[in-house]
Formats: sequence, C-alpha cells, structure tokens
Amino acid sequence: MSSFTLASDGVDPNCVPTRTLSTGAKIPAIGLGTFGSDRFSGEAIAAAVKGAIAVGYRHIDCAAVYGNEHLIGSALQAVMAGGLPREELWITSKVWNDMHGEGDVLLACARTLKDLKLDYLDLYLIHWPFPNYHAPGVGVDSRDPHARPYLHENYMKTWRQMERLVTAGLVRHIGTSNMTIPKLKLLLRDAQIKPACNEMELHPHFQQPELFKFVVDNGIVPIGFSPIGSPTRPDRDKTRDDTVDIEDPVIVKIAQRLGVHPAVVCVKWGVQRGQVPIPFSVYREQYLSNLQGAASDPLTAEEMQAIAGIDKNCRLIKGQVFLWESAKDWEDLWDVKGEIAV
Ligand SMILES: NC(=O)c1ccc[n+]([C@@H]2O[C@H](COP(=O)([O-])OP(=O)(O)OC[C@H]3O[C@@H](n4cnc5c(N)ncnc54)[C@H](OP(=O)(O)O)[C@@H]3O)[C@@H](O)[C@H]2O)c1
Repeated sequence: MSSFTLASDGVDPNCVPTRTLSTGAKIPAIGLGTFGSDRFSGEAIAAAVKGAIAVGYRHIDCAAVYGNEHLIGSALQAVMAGGLPREELWITSKVWNDMHGEGDVLLACARTLKDLKLDYLDLYLIHWPFPNYHAPGVGVDSRDPHARPYLHENYMKTWRQMERLVTAGLVRHIGTSNMTIPKLKLLLRDAQIKPACNEMELHPHFQQPELFKFVVDNGIVPIGFSPIGSPTRPDRDKTRDDTVDIEDPVIVKIAQRLGVHPAVVCVKWGVQRGQVPIPFSVYREQYLSNLQGAASDPLTAEEMQAIAGIDKNCRLIKGQVFLWESAKDWEDLWDVKGEIAV
C-alpha cells in the first residue's frame, strides 16, 4: 500500500483505465507528455511531472532528445521519497537517432537511467527508424548530408541492442515509434522480442486507421502522441494546410455538452478508441482535466462515430529534417505507397 498522498481534487489512479501488453503488464491508458517544443523550460516540465503525479498520473513519456530527463529525474526522486513505490509508475524513454550504432544503445539507456535516477525503464522505444538527425531548432529545409533511407539490416542491429537491454533487466518492454506497416512487418518477422508498443501520431484529424488496426491486430499497444493536435508544436512544424482538431465543430459540440475544453474531448476519444494518449501540458488545470476526462463516463456511441468521421489524414509531425538527399518529400518517410521508400 502506498503512503503517497493524492491531491484532494486528484483522480484515484485505480480509476484510470489501463491497457494490457503482450507480456500481461498493464500500462496506464493516459500518460503525460514531456516534449516542451521550443516553448517550455525543462524546469517547468519537471514541475508538471511532479504535479501530474500528485493528481494521479502514473505514466510519464520521456525522451533523451527532449533534454530534460535530468530534471524529470529529480521530480521522480522527490515523489518516490514522498512514499510512491517505483512499481506504481510507468516510465517510458526513447533512444535518439544519433545513438543507433553498435554499443551506443546501452550507453544511451545508461545515460537516461542515470538522468531519470531510475534502475529500470518500463518501456524503451527507438524514437525514429532512421539514424538521421539534425541540430536542435533547425528549419524544415535543413538536411543532414549523412542522412540515409531506412535500412532494415541497420535497424535490426539497433533492435538487437534493445533486446539485450530487456535480457539485462534494464528495460521491461521495448517498442517502436514513427514506424510504418512495411517496416513493422519486417521487424515482426525478425525480432526475438516483439515490440510491446508503437508510439505514433494519433488525434481526431489524424487517425491512421490502417496502421492502428495493423498494430492492434499484432498485439502491439498504440501510444498516441500529439493527441490534441499539438497546438504548441514548434512553428517550423506548422504548414498552411494543417487543420486544428480543437476547433473542429464535432469536437467543440461534444466539449460544450460536457462543459470541458475541446482538448479533453480529444483525450477521451483516444482512450476510448483503445490508444494510449500522452497529452502534454505544464498547467495543472489542463493536465488534471485531461486525466479526469480519461477516467470519467465515456462518450456516446454516436459521438465516437461522429469523431471517426472527421479524420482528415492531417499529419502534423512530418519529420522533414530526417529526409535524405535523394528523397522527394516528407511522404517518403511514411511509406505512403505501401513499400519502404528508398
Ligand atoms: N514519439 C515521437 O516522435 C513524439 C512526437 C511528438 C510528441 N511526442 C510525445 O507526445 C507528447 C504530446 O504531444 P505534443 O506535445 O506534440 O502535443 P499535444 O499533447 O497534442 O498538445 C499539447 C498542447 O495542448 C494544449 N492542451 C493540453 N491540454 C489541454 C487542456 N486540457 N485544455 C486546453 N489545452 C490543452 C496545450 O497548449 P497551450 O499551452 O497552448 O494551452 C499543450 O501545450 C509530447 O509531449 C511527447 O512526449 C512524441
């Protein structure tokens, strides 16, 4: 029994839905995102992690490239010192693109564990299926001259290192992020330890029905990033054609019925559809209302159907900076023709 005190207006973590992974482990069906874009400081995000756990969050989505794991680690240490057992938390992190090489994954994981002040991770993901990376904050037209298309042989070398982390007990589950069906098919064919989760962009205007179904049919739990449509994403990730989920009349109407912000409707829809949304916010009122939304009465069948009908196939995180020189455009990163683009 935990001696940790939940905030008086918090949500009992036992009332938050969970998803069961292929190992039988349960992941809380909502997590807190920690990517501050260009707008929020690491200190503000670490304070939000502490505040979110105090109101009932038990799942935090981290990544080395967000540059704030050392600060989040201090927040985690404080809540555990306050009586919350480590086993009650679900902590995810991700290996960045510059650490795919032989021996590097172990180094990256060790660094993340040190920063987060943990001795194991619940889930470790390969952040992107490419070793291509860029300096922080560069424009979308910037290209890494060493960038290459997806090479399965190399991805498997990285995956084997991920598998070794599980064997070594440093990581309980491993998974993928920003993958496509053709790439996942190869991984499922060759993996000794199959991915437990796939983190992918999922919000009402970008529902990815095919990839979602493929993932679920293969026993992989989808984690949905940018679940609110990432209104605070960096300006470099915005284009004129992008649509805005929280302004959609269908979402706004449901929000009015419930007396909540449209963001909460996006989160509720994500949980109810079966993905694990990881909304970001540093504001207590926002992250608390997102958690309350995940744990409260479901949307009606008609509302779920109405939201299913507003998919606009509008990908927001296009990944242009990971393109290789001969690539035509960002769609090459996503294998839109059904085969791996080279
Ligand atoms: N695997 C990957 O490659 C990948 C990529 C992207 C993101 N992620 C993960 O996914 C997380 C979430 O994605 P995201 O940060 O892009 O976007 P998001 O969660 O869709 O949007 C976050 C923004 O939504 C607004 N918001 C949140 N809750 C709200 C509420 N209750 N009411 C009103 N507004 C609310 C806030 O904007 P205001 O501040 O304007 O109020 C907040 O900054 C990231 O933090 C990161 O952990 C992973």
